[in-house]
Amino acid sequence: MSSIESICCIGAGYVGGPTMAMIAKQCPHIKVHVVDLNQARIDAWNSDELPIYEPGLDEVVREARGRNLTFSTEVDAAIHAADMVFISVNTPTKTFGIGAGRAANLEHIEKCARQIAKVSSGHKIVVEKSTLPVRTAQAVKRILANASTASFDVLSNPEFLAEGTAIQDLLKPDRVLIGGESKEAIASLVDIYASWVPKERILTTNLWSSELSKLTANAFLAQRVSSINAISALCEATGADIDEVARAIGTDSRIGPKFLKASVGFGGSCFQKDILNLVYLCEHFGLNEVADYWNQVVSINDYQKSRFSKQIVRTLFNTVSDKKICMLGWAFKKDTNDTRESAAIYVCRDLLMERARVEVYDPQVSEQQIRADLEYIMRDENGELSSYKQSLIDNVSVVEDPYQAADEAHAIAVMTEWDEFQNLDYSRVHKNMSQPAFVFDGRNILNHKQLAEIGFEVHSIGRTSLSPNT
Ligand code: UDX
Ligand code: ADP
Repeated sequence: MSSIESICCIGAGYVGGPTMAMIAKQCPHIKVHVVDLNQARIDAWNSDELPIYEPGLDEVVREARGRNLTFSTEVDAAIHAADMVFISVNTPTKTFGIGAGRAANLEHIEKCARQIAKVSSGHKIVVEKSTLPVRTAQAVKRILANASTASFDVLSNPEFLAEGTAIQDLLKPDRVLIGGESKEAIASLVDIYASWVPKERILTTNLWSSELSKLTANAFLAQRVSSINAISALCEATGADIDEVARAIGTDSRIGPKFLKASVGFGGSCFQKDILNLVYLCEHFGLNEVADYWNQVVSINDYQKSRFSKQIVRTLFNTVSDKKICMLGWAFKKDTNDTRESAAIYVCRDLLMERARVEVYDPQVSEQQIRADLEYIMRDENGELSSYKQSLIDNVSVVEDPYQAADEAHAIAVMTEWDEFQNLDYSRVHKNMSQPAFVFDGRNILNHKQLAEIGFEVHSIGRTSLSPNT
C-alpha cells in the first residue's frame, strides 16, 4: 500500500468542504486541496465568512487552512498533483428527459470523471463521495479507462454526516464505509480515516454494497420520519399526543428513540433524492412493488407539507388572501443555512397561491436564497416564471428581526426548530399581531400551554389544538 501525500477534492459544498477540512485537521502530513468551479464559493472558503453555516466548522478550517488545506478553482492542477481524488459534486434529481423527477442527474459526476481522465498521469485512486445511484462507479471506471497516460482504482466512500452536526459526525462517526475492489486502494483510504476513527468503525464492502447502503440508510431514516408523521395525522383526529406516542414507542430498545420527532415534513438534499433514486432503480429492475413501497415515504412527506398549509388556510376562516403570515425559519433544519427541499418553501408556495402576504425570518438564510428558492419552485415545466407567479413572490418580504416579521401578522408558522424561537417574548409578539392571533408550530418546539395563556390559538403537529386561555 502506498501512503497518500496529496488529496484533491472536486466540489466545495456541504459535503466536500467539511469532510476535507476534517481530513486536513487530522492528517497534517497530507496536502488537501479543495477545488470548485464556483469562484464566489471558493473566495468565501478563503475568507472569514465561510459559505456554509455549520457549528464548529470555522475552528477546524482556521486550524488547517494555509497549513495543509487550500481552496481554489485550479481544478486541473489539483487533480494532476493528487494521489487521491474525491468527487464531491452535487447530484440533484433530474428535471428533464428519461427518469425526470426520480433519477439522479449525473452530468457533474461524468464531467469530473472526464476531467480526471484528461489531466492525470501515473496511478490515482478516485473516491466517490457524492450520493450516487448504484453502479455509478462502473460508469466512472469506464470513462477513466479511456485515459491514455494514467491508471485508476475507484472507491465508494459515502458520507453519512448530517448538516448542523457535521463536525461531530465527522469527528466521531458511527461508521466509515469504504467500498471497492482493490485491497491496496481500500487500505490507503482506511489508513487516512484510521488517523482518528477506531479501526472497528471502518467498514469495507464491495463497491455496490457501499453505494446501495447509502441510499438504504437515508431511505430508512426518512421512513421513520414519514411513519411518525403519518401517525401524527391520526393523533390530531383522535386526541392522542404524538410526542407521547413517540416517547412510548422509542423506549422499546428494538425501535429506539431517535428520528421520531414529528414535523411539518423532512427536507434536505438527501432524503427525497435518495429515495427517488432507489425507486427508479427498483423500477429499472422490474421490482414495481418495492418501488411503490419506498415511493410512499415521499408521498406521505408531500401530504404532511400540504396538510400543514391547508390547516393554516382552514383555520384562518378559509381565507388567507391579503393576510400577513409570519414564517419563522426557512432552513430545512436548525443549525444550517441549507434550504434544499425545505418544507418552508412548499408551505410558502401554497400560502402565496392563496394570495397571502408572507414575512420570513431565519437567522442564517439570506433573502437572496429565499427568493431563489421561490422562483425555482414557482416555475412551470418549461422553466418559465410567469408574471403572475412573480407578482405572488413579490408578496414575500424577508426581515432580520423576528418581532418585525410577526408585527401585525394574523398567524405565525414555525417552520424550522431554531433554538432562539423558544425564547422569544411571545406576550410582546401577541400584542402586536392582528387578533385573533394564531400559532402553527410545525416543529412542536414552543410551550403551547403558555402560548394559549397569553391568548394565542395554538395548532401543532399531532396534538389537539389549544384555544386561548384553556
Ligand atoms: C441526512 C442523513 O441523516 C445523513 O446521514 C446523510 O448523510 C445526509 O442526509 P441531513 O439531511 O443533513 O442528513 O439531516 P437529517 O438530520 O437527517 O434531517 C433530515 C430532515 O428530516 C430534516 O428536515 C429534519 O428536520 C427532518 N427530521 C429529522 C424530522 O422531521 N424528524 C426527525 O425526527 C428527524
Ligand atoms: P453537496 O451537498 O453534495 O456537497 P453542494 O451543491 O453543496 O452539494 O456542492 C457541490 C459543489 O460541486 C458545488 O459548489 C458545485 O459548484 C461543485 N461542482 C459541480 N460540478 C463541478 C465540476 N465539474 N468541477 C468542480 N466543481 C463542481
